[in-house]
Amino acid sequence: MNGMDTLLIARGTKEVHLLPRMANRHGLIAGATGTGKTVSLRVLAEGFSDMGVPVFLSDVKGDLTGVAVPGGGNKKIEERIAALGLEGFQYEGYPVVFWDVFGERGHPVRTTVSEMGPLLLSRILNLNDTQSGVLSLVFRIADDNGLLLLDLKDLRAMAAFVGDNADRFKVEYGNVSRASVGAIQRNLLVLEEQGGDRFFGEPALSMEDLLQTDSRGRGTINILLADRLIRSPKVYATFLLWLLSELFEMLPEVGDPPKPKMVFFFDEAHLLFEDVSSALEEKIEQVVRLIRSKGVGVYFVTQNPLDLADPVLGQLGNRVQHALRAFTPRDQRAVRAAAETFRPNPAVNVTEAITELAVGEALLSMLDGKGAPEPVERAFVLPPRSSLTPLSPEEIRAIVRDSVLHGFYEKTVDRESAYEKLKERAEATARQEAEEAASRARAKEPKRDLFSAAAKSAAHAIGSQIGRQIIRGILGSFFGGKK
Ligand SMILES: Nc1ncnc2c1ncn2[C@@H]1O[C@H](COP(=O)(O)OP(=O)(O)OP(=O)(O)O)[C@@H](O)[C@H]1O
Ligand SMILES: [Mg+2]
Repeated sequence: MNGMDTLLIARGTKEVHLLPRMANRHGLIAGATGTGKTVSLRVLAEGFSDMGVPVFLSDVKGDLTGVAVPGGGNKKIEERIAALGLEGFQYEGYPVVFWDVFGERGHPVRTTVSEMGPLLLSRILNLNDTQSGVLSLVFRIADDNGLLLLDLKDLRAMAAFVGDNADRFKVEYGNVSRASVGAIQRNLLVLEEQGGDRFFGEPALSMEDLLQTDSRGRGTINILLADRLIRSPKVYATFLLWLLSELFEMLPEVGDPPKPKMVFFFDEAHLLFEDVSSALEEKIEQVVRLIRSKGVGVYFVTQNPLDLADPVLGQLGNRVQHALRAFTPRDQRAVRAAAETFRPNPAVNVTEAITELAVGEALLSMLDGKGAPEPVERAFVLPPRSSLTPLSPEEIRAIVRDSVLHGFYEKTVDRESAYEKLKERAEATARQEAEEAASRARAKEPKRDLFSAAAKSAAHAIGSQIGRQIIRGILGSFFGGKK
């Protein structure tokens, strides 16, 4: 298949095609639970891969790993192939790369604290506005002092350093509330307990590694194994948002290319907008709007389209709407809203159809060659070519082991950054203090302020073995000398 072909995704009274050069105008896959969203996502992902477009998607339920192997032996799928008259339909396995934030089952995916930035980190850390202001200060002070923030221990050491030296920083940076520093540190601990420490560090994910094709020219399907990550919904959503913004920053402007550079599927997309600050919501809207010109299509997958922020929803040109329930008033609003967004087709009663659609059936409207939505069609989404049966842990492991990427992200690197530098500085200060204390002891001077702020912050913030040893050394010589 070449890039100019269209992508057949559904068949009803008419065929529904997605135009590759409109695929960067984003899309929506919506519908109640069990109505066929994930299969529709899969059919799109397979189609993009076939046309050489790499794809990134998250597997929230563990039902997408089978994309790597050909389907077959599923009676329902066979029935659908026959019903849709898909002659020459072939089962296919796709080139898959597995990623895992926790590094347990897929290639570890990491970023650095400074690449994530204070705005996104604030959300992950559940910080309020005041606290997130202080976090931004911590970043600035680190920058101004040439201290790298790579992993969580860098950030923890840096926050402690800023908190302990708040008075010193007050003149230049303004008030640093100790309560806010405390909150940042507590939340950093929670994040670490959830395994977040594994996600921050080096080697950081290089976006080029997501943009690969296989020997047959098919785009790789990058699958983020996210069934554990989704249990921290904010981290999940913020992580994917970060990934999008990194892609945005790395890719050159291309306008509307004949086919997208990459397609990104955002599953459980409603999580993106759950209690976000207005600053972040604006950023989300912006990233989604601007990434189009980098040739990246973003497809949001969600149960209820009303859960997406309006300015984002308005940008989703290619739509697959599966069945919605209409039990509650809110459901009914969703049905009306979904119906209103479609360009009418006299042959389709949208409000009626939307609650009656069978599994794998949908109301669809794609953008035409001019970027205007086609009239809505009611149609059956194609069956997937790959297997619906999830892979076993061993099968996943084998794919990870055989991947060309294997070995690179698996090794962590811990280069000198804020933590190490602050530790060094604290150790030097502590050593100096120890010497001074010893000489004062010799001179029988009264002891004042034995521990400077730096030495104290070294002891409890960094908690390093050597730091403690030095402090113990001072105390030892001090009390020891008295005895
Ligand atoms: N296009 C299709 N062709 C054939 N079978 C389909 C199709 N779409 C869905 N099905 C069948 O319906 C089942 C449920 O679909 P799917 O997992 O996509 O639902 P979902 O909307 O993602 O559900 P959930 O909200 O629980 O994630 C599939 O496992 C498959 O058996
Ligand atoms: Mg699903």
